Amino acid sequence: MTVTAVCPGSFDPVTNGHLDVIRRASSRFDRLLVACLRNAGKQPLFDVDTRLDLLNEVVADLDNVEVAAFDGLLVDFCLQRGVTVIVKGLRAVSDFEYELQMAQMNSHLGDVETFFMTTSPIYSFLSSSLVKEVARFGGDVTDFVPSAVVDRLAEHL
Ligand code: PNS
Repeated sequence: MTVTAVCPGSFDPVTNGHLDVIRRASSRFDRLLVACLRNAGKQPLFDVDTRLDLLNEVVADLDNVEVAAFDGLLVDFCLQRGVTVIVKGLRAVSDFEYELQMAQMNSHLGDVETFFMTTSPIYSFLSSSLVKEVARFGGDVTDFVPSAVVDRLAEHL
């Protein structure tokens, strides 16, 4: 049986923490779909095409990974693609409460199971929001995001 999992997110922008989860998940499933929420937040820094371009660039070496955009409910995307496993990274206990709610809601709405992966400790403090804040105030983000993202952040901010 071939198992495809989906790794969803806003990816505004993709961080080394996201990439770590994507890499590790891709080695455990036959195929991994990275699903980028089109309308992420009220005002994403990067439009969806830029977020997809960056994702495609950083997963280019992973043969079993595909990047796609989605709108609406994640379970509907899963249904359309025949995916029954969602993979989420957990950074800290503070992530758990909301992730648990989402996992239970998604399981209620559709035939999907959420598998949680603990993030690697070196990335446990990382978030796209913090990276954007550091970059906005001129801080060095080279440890936190792939180089392609560093360049795009510099262009945008
Ligand atoms: O990177 P993020 O912003 O934490 O990702 C959140 C995301 C995109 C995974 C979540 O907001 C989502 O799945 N949105 C799609 C809408 C949906 O299905 N909502 C119900 C889930 S309980």
